[in-house]
Amino acid sequence: MIKFTIITLFQEALEPYLKTSMMWKATEKGLAEYNFVNLREFGLGPHRSVDDTPYGGGDGMLLRCEPVFTAIESVKDKDPTAKVIIPTPVGKTWNQEMARNFASEVKNVHYIILCPHYEGYDERILSIVDYKISLGKYVLTGGELPALIIIDSVVRLIPGVLGGEKSAEIESFSDGDNLEYPQYTKPYDFRGMTVPDILLSGNHGEIAKWRAEHSGKVI
Ligand code: ADE
Repeated sequence: MIKFTIITLFQEALEPYLKTSMMWKATEKGLAEYNFVNLREFGLGPHRSVDDTPYGGGDGMLLRCEPVFTAIESVKDKDPTAKVIIPTPVGKTWNQEMARNFASEVKNVHYIILCPHYEGYDERILSIVDYKISLGKYVLTGGELPALIIIDSVVRLIPGVLGGEKSAEIESFSDGDNLEYPQYTKPYDFRGMTVPDILLSGNHGEIAKWRAEHSGKVI
């Protein structure tokens, strides 16, 4: 069982995806669990404020330490083994190998994903974070989309989540950076574009050779 606790101000942005298709099936099979913590509940004052202006000046608002620390501590009080992930553009770039490592952790693993929002976060928040993860060299408005991408890429690798036992293994990127070979389904002829005849030959050796020759191509 892999457990994710997502600390966010925007649960409604995450829920539809996690309640769909394979991510949801994984929960029905008892292989994954998603919980939400509303960061607002840990906000300060009558407005439950979670952000403030940066020392030294500058535009925008930063996530404050107090709501984040108390939100994370509320989860860790119940499960001290939980590891904290923060999606941030300055983190380590996420890749398939990292997804595989997260998926193959000890049997019961619990990740807390803290979704920052606004222009950024107080640097001291990083002192309670185990993994800083970037999705790439671009800037998003918050950590919600990265959280979904991290969860999706990890959960699909858990044995039993995908239908075919082997599908996660042989698919694109599964061994790091080898891309998948081209695939075709019916019809044989679609608007004059036909399927390579070797794939209809029934010769498994030749098909495997063709696939090996045609995999790993970035189009
Ligand atoms: N938050 C904002 N931009 C991000 C990115 N590229 N990766 C991860 N988290 C982010």
